[in-house]
Amino acid sequence: MKLSDVERAMLEGSRGQGAAKALALLVDIGDFFAAERLIPVQSAHVSGVSYLTGGDGLIEHTAFFADLGARVAVPTTLNPCGMDRERYEAMHIAEDFAVKQRLILENFARMGVLTTCSCTPYDFGHIPRKGETVAWAESSAVCFANSYFGAHTNKEDALSALAAAITGRTPEYGFHLPENRVPNARVRVTAPLCEGADFSLLGDHVGHQLKQTSFPFGAIPLFEGIGACRPHQIKALGAALASHGVHLLHIAGITPEVEVYGGAQPEIELEVGPVELTQLAERLAPKQECALYVVGCPNASFEEIAEVCDCVRGRKLKPGKEMWVFTSRPQRALAQSVGLMDELTAAGVEIFCDSCPEVTPYHRERYPAVVTNSAKAVHYIQAPGLSNTPAYFMPLSEGIAAMFEEVEA
Ligand code: F3S
Repeated sequence: MKLSDVERAMLEGSRGQGAAKALALLVDIGDFFAAERLIPVQSAHVSGVSYLTGGDGLIEHTAFFADLGARVAVPTTLNPCGMDRERYEAMHIAEDFAVKQRLILENFARMGVLTTCSCTPYDFGHIPRKGETVAWAESSAVCFANSYFGAHTNKEDALSALAAAITGRTPEYGFHLPENRVPNARVRVTAPLCEGADFSLLGDHVGHQLKQTSFPFGAIPLFEGIGACRPHQIKALGAALASHGVHLLHIAGITPEVEVYGGAQPEIELEVGPVELTQLAERLAPKQECALYVVGCPNASFEEIAEVCDCVRGRKLKPGKEMWVFTSRPQRALAQSVGLMDELTAAGVEIFCDSCPEVTPYHRERYPAVVTNSAKAVHYIQAPGLSNTPAYFMPLSEGIAAMFEEVEA
């Protein structure tokens, strides 16, 4: 890979040993993917934050860079950690876990990373422009940045996103090149899509169908037949697809790059009707009693919090049932500012920040199984390397009906 004079100097330590190590990593990645050069990034979003997923190794690698004096060169936000920093006791998280989680966050802060701890940084101002080069990690955030905003990012991992943040550069390959952003699968949607959960099911179904394809940068579906929808619904679609390795999608009439790539002739054609989604919902439906309903994968936006509020108004949790909503601190503050938090608290709903349904260690005796409105969460909560907890799917309206009862007048 050709390096500029500034990059050569960085490799030799002009910006300290932390930046030198970070650049060396990017050069290795670039060589692997036959990139010709490094290109500047405008922002980064870093994942790999929870002590649950990273363990002591995560403390060590973040300390390694922080101790070498590494500092981020571009605005950099951070993915969810394993707990609400202020209310982890309410999540039944042990003090020992909290201590280690704080160490990881301190290391990121020492490097200048904004410890926002959310996978939806675009909900609080971290919004990339169409065509802008960024280095984002976390599959749903990557898919949203590429698809909804038309920004250009590869699916970075924890280390490559941090290295890009520190150096302000990323190797030019994959989704940074226009020829790799062309749709290779057309998906005609005839199923009605009403709430966010329908979009999540659609993404999960299509992701399964496209999983066996062998495109170099994954399947890139072009959806047709999706009518007017809200950003959080596209977020749900992208998150479910991303859990199957899709990191860029186009939607006719909605996403910004359709005008460039909408005329492509993809080699794969799919059609998704109501039967496919109904069958998938039945397969993912609860097969055992669940005490906990979780919302917030990806982290809930203000609009989604308001939806929850509308559904629980006039109801209270049934005995032995709990509901948690994971969101970012700014979205929580917004909900607080218009009085939604009071209503949610009155109904018994817990709002947790800084974390997410998958990277938090559930208390196994209290929560032997959980239910959620996110197909992505269903798959990840069950993963042995994560919570290893049985998880099931229910749309918000059905979940609320199962967990709540009417308040008697
Ligand atoms: Fe976000 Fe956690 Fe889901 S990072 S997309 S809430 S797995």
